[in-house]
Amino acid sequence: MHTLTARPAADLRAIQALTAEDMAAVDALIRRRLASDVVLVNQVAEYIVGAGGKRLRPMLLLLAAGALGHRGPDAHQLAAVIEFIHTATLLHDDVVDESDLRRGRRTANAVFGNAASVLVGDFLYSRSFQLMVELDRMEVMRILADTTNRIAEGEVLQLLHVRNPDTDEAAYLRVIERKTAVLFAAATRLGALLAGAPAAVCDALHDYGLHLGYAFQIADDVLDYAADAEALGKNLGDDLAEGKATLPLIHAIAHSDATTRRRLREIVEAGEAAALDEVVAAIRATGGLDYSRRRALAYAEAAERALEGLAENAHVAALRGLARYAVTRDR
Ligand code: IPE
Ligand code: IPE
Ligand code: MG
Ligand code: MG
Repeated sequence: MHTLTARPAADLRAIQALTAEDMAAVDALIRRRLASDVVLVNQVAEYIVGAGGKRLRPMLLLLAAGALGHRGPDAHQLAAVIEFIHTATLLHDDVVDESDLRRGRRTANAVFGNAASVLVGDFLYSRSFQLMVELDRMEVMRILADTTNRIAEGEVLQLLHVRNPDTDEAAYLRVIERKTAVLFAAATRLGALLAGAPAAVCDALHDYGLHLGYAFQIADDVLDYAADAEALGKNLGDDLAEGKATLPLIHAIAHSDATTRRRLREIVEAGEAAALDEVVAAIRATGGLDYSRRRALAYAEAAERALEGLAENAHVAALRGLARYAVTRDR
């Protein structure tokens, strides 16, 4: 995905270096708390966690806390909670989307089957609740209970739009707010909360995370049409195959001539995976990728603006860097 911003693509590695020590602790905690005496739970959980992943959401929590001067075991614990929730949603998502490639390897559902994926996803969800309860803070539990409930609503809302060619940008944004952005927002809000920040600062970090989440998902939906599959570690065209109209295609349907529009609507209604080239051509002809990239960039800029009231430090700069990374990444 080429960048639309005049600024250089964000260097994820430099940002990662800032939280490397803490992220190592988070990773160790994740590994330790995956454990179960049910062998299949360990196998499936280790399989997806061991495949890597960018660990962006736990990093966001640590950076938000660090931006406000907080570091320590509670942040590690909540960062692990956020990554457990994210991982559970991926296990479920790949079943729903019938995807067979993630993080550069076959999906858990392709290897272990749908039932094992769904059930181990439930294990990870409930394990995240066990970890969260250990902190014994009602406000933290409230945020995470509300967030996981909204994510579930988002997934169901998305299901209602499958194979629906009338899905418009407003409906699309309602789905991605819930399925993706609220978890980013929870991560950054929790970081601020741990730092003991006043309500206005917690709200600002929440806004940052929410806008970043929108940007991140729109970029993901562009990558589904335009990435290098090897770098992405996922198959291209998964969204179309599922009959999911994301922003590039929504734009193409709205801006094509009547004949093409009719054809695109049919393709969505049928979830016609074999029509990928035709759809990509229509998206390109209507500027659907550039339009979507511009929308993603606007959300990334809104995320950066949410940070304006904070005192400058390396962690705040890294949060700005991640806003750029979200829309310039290739995986
Ligand atoms: C994938 O998230 C799901 C979306 C919200 C698009 P990531 O791209 O953060 O997945 P990993 O954890 O790095 O594999
Ligand atoms: C993100 O949507 C799903 C979640 C929030 C779990 P996608 O279906 O686009 O995610 P990928 O592309 O499979 O990672
Ligand atoms: Mg998916
Ligand atoms: Mg996707």
